[in-house]
Amino acid sequence: MIFPEGFMIGAATAAHQVEGNNIHSDYWAQEHMPHTSFTEPSGNACDHYNRYEEDIRLMAEAGLNTYRFSVEWARIEPEEGKFDETEIEHYRRVIDCCKANGIEPIVTLMHFTSPVWLIRKGGWEAESTVEDFRRYAAYVTEKLGAQLHYICTINEANMGLQLAAIAKRFRLMAEQAAKSAKSAEGSVQVGMNFEKMMENMKFAAAENAEIFGTPQPQVFVNSRTPEGDLLVMRAHQAAKEAIKSLYPEIKVGITLSMHDLQALEGGESFAEAAWDEEFTHYLPYLEGDDFLGVQNYTRTLYGPEGQLPAPEGAELTQMDYEFYPEALEHVIRKVHEGFRGDLIVTENGTAMDDDTRRVAFIRRALQGVHNCIEDGIPVKGYCYWSLMDNFEWQKGFSMTFGLIAVDRSTQKRIPKESLRYLGSYTK
Ligand code: BGC
Repeated sequence: MIFPEGFMIGAATAAHQVEGNNIHSDYWAQEHMPHTSFTEPSGNACDHYNRYEEDIRLMAEAGLNTYRFSVEWARIEPEEGKFDETEIEHYRRVIDCCKANGIEPIVTLMHFTSPVWLIRKGGWEAESTVEDFRRYAAYVTEKLGAQLHYICTINEANMGLQLAAIAKRFRLMAEQAAKSAKSAEGSVQVGMNFEKMMENMKFAAAENAEIFGTPQPQVFVNSRTPEGDLLVMRAHQAAKEAIKSLYPEIKVGITLSMHDLQALEGGESFAEAAWDEEFTHYLPYLEGDDFLGVQNYTRTLYGPEGQLPAPEGAELTQMDYEFYPEALEHVIRKVHEGFRGDLIVTENGTAMDDDTRRVAFIRRALQGVHNCIEDGIPVKGYCYWSLMDNFEWQKGFSMTFGLIAVDRSTQKRIPKESLRYLGSYTK
């Protein structure tokens, strides 16, 4: 399997999940609430903030040519309107380090975490967020744009609606709470502890009010209203305009979390409605984007009563997703029917102990990408999630998605065979 000249093969991370000590962010605040839904705080995470040189070098040595990472809004603008030059300089060094190692940086501006001040103003349901995000995007681009070819504005812009759908299902299933909480977790592409969240709800309201000034803070990874969903799209468009007005040649896109939605007989209308919610209804807001970031981890099955669990006997990952790497090819083909521009797989991966299963996952997923390219679909890159085992949000450090293991007591990096394997595709 040979990929076209210039095809990007790399790995992805997000600032909060790897850097450590993201103290001005909403996540940090939530992790430290007395009744938190997080199994553990992010702490110094993988200390990537200080060890990025080693991490980027390991990637390059294995042959990877692309690194997708996020810059952290809460570091860059810790107080409203006050930008921290030293943090921009940090990210300038990270980008320089990528370049020195022959790695193309793909920078994400917002990967789930926001500054606390933004949430105090109403967060991702507040009109003012559109302008706040535009200003932040303009600042980052003004400072770093000269070194960049690719910017993702917002990671998994559709996450809020997916969570709203799950919250609805969850309420309906509330009587069998414990069991259904577990299966709901496996149907969203982000580490969530629904059971713990339910238990904590009554205490959390007061604690939230103290930190965020409201019992229901509108953080990014939260159930979103249809108006909030639109607001996220407008924030994307505002950021895109800001970037383009400074550096028109930078390729700008958004990323979406997409499942391979498969209908068994009688489940067609459910699968169609879910695809519209997950993807199609966003298309008008993505017009003129240079690329779309495709993020996929598994498939979802629908029957006549709605969503079904993974088939009996299916291999499940640590996240309780079905191990099903073919989902990526199916999703790319469906996305291409609606979005005719370039596609970049900005995330795809599996959380498993057994690295030979990760190698198999990558092989099968890349085969799917290759099939799509052979059929003329413009897929320009593949970023595995994740470069290293990291902080999987509410689930803490228990999920091992990484190509590199991290011993957090020493912060020693232990590259896995899958890192070398992924890198072999550029050789
Ligand atoms: C997110 C990552 C997350 C990964 C695995 C994606 O939803 O962008 O932040 O760690 O999936 O759950």
